[in-house]
Amino acid sequence: MELNGKRVVVGVTGGIAAYKAAELVRLLTKQGADVQVAMTEGATHFVTPTTFQALSGKPVYVDQWDARMPNAMAHIDLSRQADLIVVAPASADFLARIAHGQADDLLATMVLARDCPLLVAPAMNRQMWENPATRRNVDQLRADGIVVLGPASGEQACGEVGAGRMLEPEDIAEEIVAFCQPTVLAGRRVLITAGPTFEAIDPVRGITNLSSGRMGYAVARAARHAGAEVTLVSGPVGFAAPQGVDRVNVRSALEMHAAVLARAAASDIFIAVAAVADYRVANAAEHKLKKESGGIPAIELIENPDILAEVAALPDGPFCVGFAAESRNLEEYAQRKRQRKNIPLIAGNLIQDGFGGDDNRLVLFDDAGAHPLAPAPKSALARQLVEHIAQLLTGKD
Ligand code: PMT
Repeated sequence: MELNGKRVVVGVTGGIAAYKAAELVRLLTKQGADVQVAMTEGATHFVTPTTFQALSGKPVYVDQWDARMPNAMAHIDLSRQADLIVVAPASADFLARIAHGQADDLLATMVLARDCPLLVAPAMNRQMWENPATRRNVDQLRADGIVVLGPASGEQACGEVGAGRMLEPEDIAEEIVAFCQPTVLAGRRVLITAGPTFEAIDPVRGITNLSSGRMGYAVARAARHAGAEVTLVSGPVGFAAPQGVDRVNVRSALEMHAAVLARAAASDIFIAVAAVADYRVANAAEHKLKKESGGIPAIELIENPDILAEVAALPDGPFCVGFAAESRNLEEYAQRKRQRKNIPLIAGNLIQDGFGGDDNRLVLFDDAGAHPLAPAPKSALARQLVEHIAQLLTGKD
């Protein structure tokens, strides 16, 4: 529940994308946000207030003179109760009105009267989006500190193709979650490894491990939410990259090594979450091994480079954070790894807790000792790890 306790006003304006606002309200509510919906009269021609009332559990406001507000000041009361306002979809007309400070309906008046951040997700035909008038209005909104989310490009309801589609509700919700996080890594470049590696035996077989990539992807997402510029070097996993994260796909430890070393010197922080194979197959076959060729094939292993130790040894290299998955003696083994690799921080987890699932149990080890974190979803642990890194870096700056 990444938006627990956040009070969000969702403004809906008239456009076909209004139907997607219903999903946005559902997603925000699911994340723990307290959602209040306000609609323009135009929006009610696309979706009824009843839909939003059912999803938010609250009456929906459309009319500035709504008699349900005892003081007849819906615009003030609703905006004062909000931690942020997001208008999705935001039509060309609505953007024009708020760019000029107009207050000609409840939603526009609320936006003008607000003392909280405003995010808008434009949605319109591509010609309307490209029109110089809209460009001017959007530039003005950005200059006024309003966050413009999207729009996306693609096929439009009118059948044309181009920029102007509203971002998908999941992407808007993700931007809102990001917006609500403290930007403790603003301006930092963070390089992260995640997932397993795959060491080929022949073209179709290989040695790998049970890392799902969940922990590393959660760390990448949390670092990006904390304001960092994030590059994720990922072994083979089945997830899409977190929004706003630059992903580099690799397969083997050697490929991961090359991808990391090419970027490490330009990074401020390196977080090695990947479960990298310690060994690769020295005699990998060019063609598929055939059973009928006789005998049991012997697999000869050679050691892979230790990516984390190499990055930690770089002169003026990034601040290095390791992970350690152990089956026992977590503190002793994790601290030993931290010292051997010469890194300031390592996150220890037990194999049975860490591999695969959505939850984990982490203990952070640094010069000050052990910092156990309560068992939690990987997303929450990733945030705590990012905050811990930011604190250690503040001490160093
Ligand atoms: O992906 P999930 O299913 O969510 O699982 C997460 C996880 C259990 C894989 C993760 O939380 C974790 O613990 N990752 C580290 C696994 C491990 O024990 O690595 P290690 O002990 O082999 O290596 C210690 C550290 O050195 C790690 O930061 C590793 O990325 C790094 N390393 C190791 C070997 C190598 N050749 N190069 C490295 O950079």
